[in-house]
Amino acid sequence: MSDDYAHLHPSVRRFADEDAPSRIRRIRTDRWIGYARAEAVLAALEDLLSFPKRTRMPNLLLVGPTNNGKTMIVEKFRRAHPGAAAGESNDGIALFPVVKVQMPPGPDEGRFFGAILDAIGMPFSPRDRIATKQDAVVRVMRSTGTRMLVIDELHNVLSGSAMQQRRLLNLLRWLGNELQIPLVGVGTAEALRAIRSDDQLVNRFEPHPLPLWSDDGEYRRLLNTLEAVLPLRKPSHLAESALGARILSASEGVLGEMIAVIIRAAVRAVETDTEAISARMIEDTGFIRPSERRRVAV
Ligand SMILES: Nc1ncnc2c1ncn2[C@@H]1O[C@H](COP(=O)(O)OP(=O)(O)O)[C@@H](O)[C@H]1O
Ligand SMILES: [Mg+2]
Repeated sequence: MSDDYAHLHPSVRRFADEDAPSRIRRIRTDRWIGYARAEAVLAALEDLLSFPKRTRMPNLLLVGPTNNGKTMIVEKFRRAHPGAAAGESNDGIALFPVVKVQMPPGPDEGRFFGAILDAIGMPFSPRDRIATKQDAVVRVMRSTGTRMLVIDELHNVLSGSAMQQRRLLNLLRWLGNELQIPLVGVGTAEALRAIRSDDQLVNRFEPHPLPLWSDDGEYRRLLNTLEAVLPLRKPSHLAESALGARILSASEGVLGEMIAVIIRAAVRAVETDTEAISARMIEDTGFIRPSERRRVAV
């Protein structure tokens, strides 16, 4: 009780005296961890959103490996621009400034329009003709004041035939022009390949890479941030010790894996009364490297 828990963020210190079960629950709770690259992407998205309407709107492509924090960033951005339900807005019309959809696998225009209508909560029949859905999409995006369309899993475009790919890329170009809103594509390097196959799109999508992590200052800062929000009673010194390198190699530089390793080790630290993460704990979590896991899966 008398400890000042200087290794913890001030807002987290009061949790350090809680019992094990409630701290384990807190450790496992989803939270946003800020880091420089993510903040830069959020600022670029903010910039796009305030861009004045013109015929050719700039677009952005967030590119990175799977499980590396891409969806977390666009979700955080969407939450920061929540809009309003019909009952809450002044004129009784729902507002959706940022609409986020996933490119459906095996994509075609009908499914893509369906995904947009779903995201806005607009009922439609899967049997509606493509032109009907297209009209509905444009009408509802205008009336709900959509100012940005985010398309996650954009690499799914490549799961369609060459003909379908072409039609979808044309459609994206058309939609951006018609609504005069910026498009934000999110996906793996394959998404970039898809965009590059279209001469006109490639000039309009500015790529923002979210690469794998390496052992540098930003990584060490991330470890500090994480350590400060996990209510362990003792400091683990993740950033200053060999633990950092260990975590990085166990997770092969993938952000989602790094966070998962640290969370499991932190839970272990509470369960064993050790109250700090050690190399032993990282081994104890029985963690399987992402590449080994893929081998097991096949
Ligand atoms: N900024 C962040 N803060 C906290 N956890 C994160 C953050 N970014 C990623 N994660 C963790 O990594 C996991 C994978 O992130 P996600 O955004 O889904 O990756 P991607 O879309 O690149 O495949 C998330 O479920 C979350 O647990
Ligand atoms: Mg994702």
